[in-house]
Amino acid sequence: MAYYFDEPSRTFNEYLLVPGYSPSTCVPAAVSLKTPLVRYRKGEEECPISLNIPMISAIMQAVSDDGMAVALATEGGMSFVYGSQSIESQAAMVARVKDYKAGFVTSDANLSPDMTLAQVVELKEKLGHSTMPVTEDGTATGKLLGVVTERDYRLSRMSLDEKVADFMTPREKLIVAPVSTSLKVANDIIWDHKLNSLPIVDENDHLVSLVFRKDYDSHKSNPNEMLDSHKRYMVGAGINTRDYAERIPALVEAGVDVLCIDSSEGYSDWQKFTIEWVREHYGNTVKIGAGNVVDAEGFRFLADAGADFIKVGIGGGSICITRETKGIGRGQATATIEVAAARDAYFKETGVYVPICSDGGIVYDHHISLALAMGSDFVMLGRYFARFDESPSNKVMVNGSYMKEYWGEGSARARNWQRYDLGGDKKGMTFEEGVDSYVPYAGALKDGVALTLSKVRSTMCNCGALTIDELQDKAKLTIVSSTSIVEGGAHDVLLKDKTPYVSNTGH
Ligand code: IMP
Repeated sequence: MAYYFDEPSRTFNEYLLVPGYSPSTCVPAAVSLKTPLVRYRKGEEECPISLNIPMISAIMQAVSDDGMAVALATEGGMSFVYGSQSIESQAAMVARVKDYKAGFVTSDANLSPDMTLAQVVELKEKLGHSTMPVTEDGTATGKLLGVVTERDYRLSRMSLDEKVADFMTPREKLIVAPVSTSLKVANDIIWDHKLNSLPIVDENDHLVSLVFRKDYDSHKSNPNEMLDSHKRYMVGAGINTRDYAERIPALVEAGVDVLCIDSSEGYSDWQKFTIEWVREHYGNTVKIGAGNVVDAEGFRFLADAGADFIKVGIGGGSICITRETKGIGRGQATATIEVAAARDAYFKETGVYVPICSDGGIVYDHHISLALAMGSDFVMLGRYFARFDESPSNKVMVNGSYMKEYWGEGSARARNWQRYDLGGDKKGMTFEEGVDSYVPYAGALKDGVALTLSKVRSTMCNCGALTIDELQDKAKLTIVSSTSIVEGGAHDVLLKDKTPYVSNTGH
């Protein structure tokens, strides 16, 4: 006979946190959001990799490329670069994150000596950069011949036909530094010589990058950066259960820090085989998350298989139509609560703590606090990160407002059928489990994440918690009734921004 769960399948919107006692020491500035990313013997050892903020970006074409990975690692989270691309291009993205040197900028406004002042002005207007290196072939890696800044030309006195070679500051007058220069030394040179920028060149005098004066504080202003032992940004990558024997070695070679099997349904032999392959070839040196599951059984299966962390959630994603298409899934709150209990039971039994991640369905910032309170160690977000400048998708104007494009991995646009693979021959068997959509543009990731986390810290203090562990321990959750949801929003008032203004003199 079929099994029926006692609990209805509930979403985050059906819960609220009831505040606990907040001692005077419990202030947002004192809150730590550090959280374990991979399995460890809690209480006996340090977790080998912890996130500094409990947010990771979804394994999706519209969300996680190398640009997103750098931006999120700067804030203390981690991106999982999407796997629905060739092995070469995914490994190249990972390598670009690992090679990224904060403060060392690859110039995108480059001049050749025979360009004209008119072209310089045009490029400056288009890209907004006032410092442009001049190279022999006009590329970002050509032999350095000089630099043009606003101090090199005066539009009122010069002809627009004048050649760059005639007014640039030539190479012999430039101060440059070799590739081995650290950011600290580069900044000292900039400081000592009162420079605005410092070109970094290789042994053949070819341009490698530029360091700008304004980046001087980049490390100091990002105290949460996720750095490896070589001070490189940390990055994850999505893999599938088909081509792992080729994909994983390429990603490891590129320097990936953590892998995650990207699948809509993780309670399967395919995931077990993939984890076993990793253990056989790399032991515990390669970390690998798995999922997604929505109940205790699924968790136990993947924990026993050796997954380093386990993702929770089926059908809750904003672009997801899996529940409609296949009738599988579970409310994100109920799934998180049950899997968290299974994670705690597993820890009690084995002494091994396997972090869990609530993936999909986070709509409001307070959903993050709820997910953490319900036992999630961190959350994976797609829609949330797709809205920022740093996501790889296009920014477009729709009905007078800026939007970013956002599409599911199971949509016809992404064609990531491996994510839904159940083995066997897939020819002609594909159907969509996701949609193509717009999400409102939300500016810079740094500002968005700062605002979101200030709310999370504030909620934690209301619950008397200074750490995520404490929040999970102390949180008191209540189910809301449909009428109390109405009470929770602004009600029985006319909102000023939705009501035409009438002055008290009738004008
Ligand atoms: P969101 O944060 O609510 O937008 O959900 C993002 C999550 O949805 C991802 O991390 C995936 O787990 C899931 N997802 C991504 N693409 C699809 C799809 O096409 N169909 C179903 N789920 C998807």
